[in-house]
Amino acid sequence: MEQYSIAIDGPAGSGKSSVSKQIAKILNIVYIDTGAMYRTVGLHCLRNHINLSNTEEVEKALQNIDMEIALSEGKQTIYLNGEDVTETIRTQQAGKAASDVAVIYAVREKLVQIQRELSKGHSVIMDGRDIGTNVLPHATIKIYLNASVEERTNRRCHELMLLGKEYNKKQIEYEIIQRDENDKNRKYNPLKKAEDAIEIDSSHMNIEQTVQTILNIIKQKINV
Ligand code: CDP
Ligand code: CDP
Repeated sequence: MEQYSIAIDGPAGSGKSSVSKQIAKILNIVYIDTGAMYRTVGLHCLRNHINLSNTEEVEKALQNIDMEIALSEGKQTIYLNGEDVTETIRTQQAGKAASDVAVIYAVREKLVQIQRELSKGHSVIMDGRDIGTNVLPHATIKIYLNASVEERTNRRCHELMLLGKEYNKKQIEYEIIQRDENDKNRKYNPLKKAEDAIEIDSSHMNIEQTVQTILNIIKQKINV
C-alpha cells in the first residue's frame, strides 16, 4: 500500500481527536493533532501575559517558541522550549487562547510548515480546522466531522462532570458558539468544509460508530 493521508476537520467537540486516535491505532498510522500546536502557542502567550489581540506582541512571542513534536503509536507528545506540555495545554483557557492566536497569519505560517514536515514519509491521519483546505490539500481522504451545538455542549459537560469539575451549561454552550464564530470567520484559513470532503454528522453517533463510518469510507477508496 502506498502512503496515504486522511484529513479530519470540524468544530470543537465534534469528536475529531477521539476518532482520529482510534483510526490511527487500527490502521497503524501516525496521528497528528494540529490543535495541540495552536494550544501550545496560546499557552506560551498566556504564561507571558501577552495581549492576544495585539498581533505584533504575539508575533514577537512566537520567535521565542521552540516547538518539538514526538510521534509514536497514535500518540503525540508536544514540547514547548523543552518542557512537555501535552497535558498542560488541555485547559479551556488554552483552547480559547489557541483560537485567538490562530487568527494571526505568522502563527499559522509557522505551524502549517511544521505540520507539513511531520506528514512526510509515512501515512498519517491529521485533525484540525484547515487540514483538507490548506495543510494537506491533496489528502487521499477528507472528512468534515460535525455535530450540533447542543450535542457538543453535552459532551463537554459530561467531560467536566467526569473530572468532578463544576460547570455552567449555558456558559459552556456560549463558549462553543463563540469558538465556532471565531474559527469560521477568521481571515486566514477559516474552518470550512473542503469541496471534496465528506461530511459526517456525529450528533447521534458514539465514537465507535463514527470510527466505523470513517473506516468504511477509507476502505471504499483505498486498500487498507
Ligand atoms: O477533537 P474534538 O474537539 O473534535 O472532539 P473530542 O475531543 O474527540 O471529543 C470531545 C468529547 O466528546 C470527548 O469527551 C469525547 O469522548 C466525546 N465524544 C462523544 O461522546 N461522542 C462522539 N461521537 C465523539 C466524541
Ligand atoms: O480540542 P478542540 O476541538 O477544542 O480544539 P483544538 O483542536 O485543540 O484546537 C484549538 C483551536 O486551535 C481551535 O479552536 C482553532 O482556533 C485552532 N486551530 C486552528 O486554527 N487550525 C487547526 N488546524 C487546528 C486548531
